[in-house]
Amino acid sequence: MSELKNDLFLRACKKQPVERTPIWIMRQAGRYLPEYRAVREKADFLTMCKTPELSAEVTIQPVDLIGVDAAILFSDILVIPEAMGMQLEMHEGKGPVFPSPIRDEKSADELLDIDPFMHLSYVLDAVAETKRELNGRVPLIGFSGSPWTLLTYMVEGRGSKNFAKVKSLIYNNPKLAHKILDKLSNAVAGYLTAKIEVGVDAVQIFDTWGGILAPDDFKEFSLQYVEKIISNIFRNDEPVIYFPKGVHHSLIEISNCGANVIGLDWTMDIGDVRKVIGDKVALQGNMDPTILYSPEEKIKKEALKILESFGDGSGHVFNLGHGILPDVEPQKAKHLVDVIKTESIKFHK
Ligand code: CP3
Repeated sequence: MSELKNDLFLRACKKQPVERTPIWIMRQAGRYLPEYRAVREKADFLTMCKTPELSAEVTIQPVDLIGVDAAILFSDILVIPEAMGMQLEMHEGKGPVFPSPIRDEKSADELLDIDPFMHLSYVLDAVAETKRELNGRVPLIGFSGSPWTLLTYMVEGRGSKNFAKVKSLIYNNPKLAHKILDKLSNAVAGYLTAKIEVGVDAVQIFDTWGGILAPDDFKEFSLQYVEKIISNIFRNDEPVIYFPKGVHHSLIEISNCGANVIGLDWTMDIGDVRKVIGDKVALQGNMDPTILYSPEEKIKKEALKILESFGDGSGHVFNLGHGILPDVEPQKAKHLVDVIKTESIKFHK
């Protein structure tokens, strides 16, 4: 870690003193960048994920172009179900599709127990290649979906509005749901451990669909598995970030899950959340991604509001409250990064 030239992000995750607030942006390697679209023209999305040189190239683009304080490995959460044997298709403009979703015992039993070094070696090769090319400029984040968020795609087969099929599964056959969630937890813990072993400096668990569950169901079908994963990851002091999108309840329980950092979406006031759980964990977030459609003065004003709401001291990693949208102008993202770099200094005297 000492070989890192910029370790602000890691220090903020551990609530150690920083000279300024670090910033990275969820989905920072993506379609809003013309340089990403140029690579994407030559290769489809999954080929990019599976070609370490291409993955490394687009992972590093936002470090060069936008100036973020951390890189996040270009990949997808759905590579795990694919490695477990599910056919995965990325449909242009429609998103990911599993043509044969998991709906019964038989298809669940067919899911493989994976060894990341065997079934996801291309991701680990991409980590090694990216670390080499980054050459210590900024830390590299690895990630996974939470078991619950992975289960929603595996059962629905695609993005969903009301999640009827996965909710039917947990209410009609909770035993089967738990069996799959347990298998996914083992896969995720092994996968994140392997990524740390080959060099990522931190990991983030995306629980994009944690917020569709009522509080008790969230604890039963999502949070308990995240806790189990975090306690089963072998790590030295690599921080774990948990991002339970849309979960306003259970903040205390969430802050006790073992993660160093809790990611917030934009529907909560970060200062209020800090008062409740900010002593225990660092916080990441939480600007509305659509603010980047605004003029630069408005972006600055909104960014300042969040810095001020968090207040003085370390323990804040600036980010959007969800992924950057594909039609945002890159200059707007760069402006946000520049604002955070200059305006956050006064909160760290
Ligand atoms: O943050 C980063 O820059 C790293 C890359 C990253 C991608 N997907 C690349 C991607 C990360 C962290 C993810 C995570 C992911 N993937 C999540 C959790 C985070 C979130 O946004 O909620 C989810 C739910 C997925 C599943 C997924 N993959 C969806 C729903 C889609 C389609 C939506 C879309 O943006 O097109 C994808 C495809 C995908 N993953 C793209 C990228 C850059 C777009 C692919 C392309 O057409 O170029």
